Amino acid sequence: MKEFWDARYKAENYAYGKNPNQYFKTQIDLLPPGKILLPAEGEGRNAVYAASLGWDVFAYDFSKYAYRKAMALAKEKQVEINYQIASLDELSFTASVFDVIGLIYVHFPDSIRASNHRKLSSLLKKGGTIILEAFSTNHPNYQKINPAVGGPKLPSQLYSEEKLKNDFEELEFNELKEEKITLAEGAFHNGDTTVMRMNAVK
Ligand SMILES: C[S@@+](CC[C@H](N)C(=O)[O-])C[C@H]1O[C@@H](n2cnc3c(N)ncnc32)[C@H](O)[C@@H]1O
Repeated sequence: MKEFWDARYKAENYAYGKNPNQYFKTQIDLLPPGKILLPAEGEGRNAVYAASLGWDVFAYDFSKYAYRKAMALAKEKQVEINYQIASLDELSFTASVFDVIGLIYVHFPDSIRASNHRKLSSLLKKGGTIILEAFSTNHPNYQKINPAVGGPKLPSQLYSEEKLKNDFEELEFNELKEEKITLAEGAFHNGDTTVMRMNAVK
């Protein structure tokens, strides 16, 4: 899997563009800056945007090519981000340190996703927020018609209200809904589809 992402990020262009994900932007714009974690952050579009608003940004991804492009984007936008080449199980953050965790198109099979979410939840401060956007279980209907919309091929990697309610049962949901949206993010997220959008507080 790492080979797949390395190959994608070796290209010169930013796979999902240099601008932040739209839902992430609308949510983070409403919050006072603090400490934010962006897991599986790829080429840094959300991390760099959060840093430009004054957030103390921590991000990670297992692709070194993603890391290089994220750091180049941070330099271009003249902001600082802390970015590690790692998976969640390799990180040593202490519990309850983040004001926000942003999960944007982070897709894992059910078993890994559920335990990742529990671990991430423990890193959130009381009163902290998780912002999430990811492809939902109806996504394959759109992906079949328009492969340019991207996203995982395995149904177990897709999101539903039920999965998120179970994974984050200790949080309170300000927003948890499936939405039909039109993606226009770089070369790999283009067209209509359905996503889960979540804003939940510990
Ligand atoms: C669809 S991309 C989303 C990137 C970023 N969140 C964004 O919105 O632009 C999914 C990301 O998950 C990363 N990833 C997949 N498995 C991972 C793992 N086990 N540990 C860390 N990162 C991983 C990939 O390298 C890739 O950057």
